Amino acid sequence: MQGGLYYEVGPEASQVPTRTRDKLLILMAYIVTESCIKCKYTDCVDVCPVDCFREGPNMLVIDPDECIDCTLCVPECPVEAIFAEDDVPDAQHEFIARNRELAAQWKPIIERKPAPPDADQWSKVKDKKHLLEK
Ligand code: SF4
Ligand code: F3S
Repeated sequence: MQGGLYYEVGPEASQVPTRTRDKLLILMAYIVTESCIKCKYTDCVDVCPVDCFREGPNMLVIDPDECIDCTLCVPECPVEAIFAEDDVPDAQHEFIARNRELAAQWKPIIERKPAPPDADQWSKVKDKKHLLEK
């Protein structure tokens, strides 16, 4: 089998693992940005149908290879930390690569959990990039 697009239309398509076929169709993902740092409310986790959130010490990220772009998590975040990749604000662009990098290192989180006790305090802080813990 040569060339990715032929997987979708060629006679061998049924022999290609589902995840490989999905990757060919997914052009974008949703991205968790700076506002999540030290807030980590995890409301987003409960609605994700494919469990693609990953948990770090003080932030979550989305595995871009698993996200199916359903948008369900976006309105759930109290601090509006989640954007479609194409809509990530310029000042947050580094989080596109950071979601991919950290999703490969961090463990899945599949259930909502209590936010840090000082989450509401941190929700008002805009400049938090330097506080991200890996
Ligand atoms: Fe999960 Fe959908 Fe949000 Fe992607 S857009 S992280 S699939 S809830
Ligand atoms: Fe973070 Fe918002 Fe989810 S604060 S953990 S992206 S609900």
